[in-house]
Amino acid sequence: MENTQYKQEINITPELMTRINELIGHYPDDKRKSALLPVLHEVQDAHENWLSYPLMDKVAEILNIQPIEVYEVVSFYTMYNQKPIGKYMFEFCRTSCCAVRGAEDLMDYTCEKLGIKEGETTPDGMFTVVGVECLGACGYAPMMQVGDFYKEHLTKEKVDTIIAECREGKINLHDK
Ligand code: FES
Repeated sequence: MENTQYKQEINITPELMTRINELIGHYPDDKRKSALLPVLHEVQDAHENWLSYPLMDKVAEILNIQPIEVYEVVSFYTMYNQKPIGKYMFEFCRTSCCAVRGAEDLMDYTCEKLGIKEGETTPDGMFTVVGVECLGACGYAPMMQVGDFYKEHLTKEKVDTIIAECREGKINLHDK
């Protein structure tokens, strides 16, 4: 992981700490580590959707585990971001069903429209585009995930609409 060049302000608010403690409370005292994945989601959501090393270290401290145990998990799962990303991250599935229904073309179209390459973020910090593996919505291909939501049966016109709605602040990112 190479995210040391990015700075992140760490802000574990009392509300966030309460939520973290709730999650930890689902497990026996000597199994706090079991809460690592949901805790990382909460912490990431509260920190502009990415996790710096100091923030991961903080999570390790809270869970009373070694920092390396947090790094391993964050670097394994693509849902955790290791560097700053756009406010809206378009995660295009490009596995079999989506691939045969034009996912690659749609992702190329989106990147071109936004003026970025896959994996990049627009200079205004609004959009990031990435390709991911099957998101389990194969029957609705081609699809992408934006925040907590799936955008299905995508077409170029639908992508245009989604981008416009993001720019207008009309797209919800979280299902809570
Ligand atoms: Fe795209 Fe499964 S192949 S969601």
